[in-house]
Amino acid sequence: MSGPRLFALLIGCLVSGSVIAGEPDADRGKRLYKVCAGCHGFSGEGNEIVGAPSLAGQETWYLARQIGNYQHGIRGGNGDDTLGVSMAMMAQALTSEEHSADVVAYINTLPRPTPATGAGDPARGASLYAPCVACHGEQGQGNEALQAPALNLMPAWYQIAQLKKFKEGSRGRQPGDTYGAQMAPMAAVLSNEADMADVTAYILSLNE
Ligand code: HEC
Ligand code: HEC
Repeated sequence: MSGPRLFALLIGCLVSGSVIAGEPDADRGKRLYKVCAGCHGFSGEGNEIVGAPSLAGQETWYLARQIGNYQHGIRGGNGDDTLGVSMAMMAQALTSEEHSADVVAYINTLPRPTPATGAGDPARGASLYAPCVACHGEQGQGNEALQAPALNLMPAWYQIAQLKKFKEGSRGRQPGDTYGAQMAPMAAVLSNEADMADVTAYILSLNE
């Protein structure tokens, strides 16, 4: 067994408690979240230095689905996606669907953070955002029916990193990634990092 895998397993043993079916338990989620806080921050505010996005304020259906995606190699299953691979190992710390639901329920109690804006040009980004509206919404608020997450609360550096992964193919191309496969061609319409920075700046201006 490789070192990181053993580490993830040990953490999994440490954080797992008894499994009780029923409503998600945010108190148990708070205990389970301790292992996440090291990267995502105690308030789920994210940490650019380790590449961990904010989680607070994001829709619960999206968080739950992403945790499952990491656990099943649908996300973080491509070796070029170094940070995705490391998050996929951390997702193994949640040893049951109940625990995942509990952590998500706890994250849902945390206040929505103010996202870090980047250096992009929001005016230029407005027209680049036009094809995104159908799924992510006029205000970048997301759309559950299409499983498209809220973007207007995600830090610029994180959005740009994800757009690059979708464009380069290390996210959205794994077998079983139905929704990532819908997003990937959209990143391809952004021709370079400047476009990505501008569209992100526009999305974040929707908060103002
Ligand atoms: C070692 C640092 C680290 C730890 C610990 C960690 N994460 Fe992450 N997490 C990351 C990184 C880095 C990313 C971004 C990975 C990528 O680019 O795909 C991420 C991404 C995520 C995402 C995707 C968010 C989005 O907007 O798509 C979710 C959900 C998530 N983590 C939940 C958790 C939970 C729950 C825990 C605790 C069980 C946890 N993470 C522990 C580093 C970590
Ligand atoms: C056909 C619907 C659709 C369109 C159009 C679309 N997206 Fe997405 N987008 C999605 C879905 C679905 C996801 C979630 C993918 C997953 O589950 O991994 C997503 C994910 C993302 C993410 C990652 C968010 C996170 O928390 O990890 C970013 C950033 C993003 N989209 C930006 C954009 C931008 C910018 C555009 C326009 C250029 C766009 N999207 C157009 C459906 C769409």
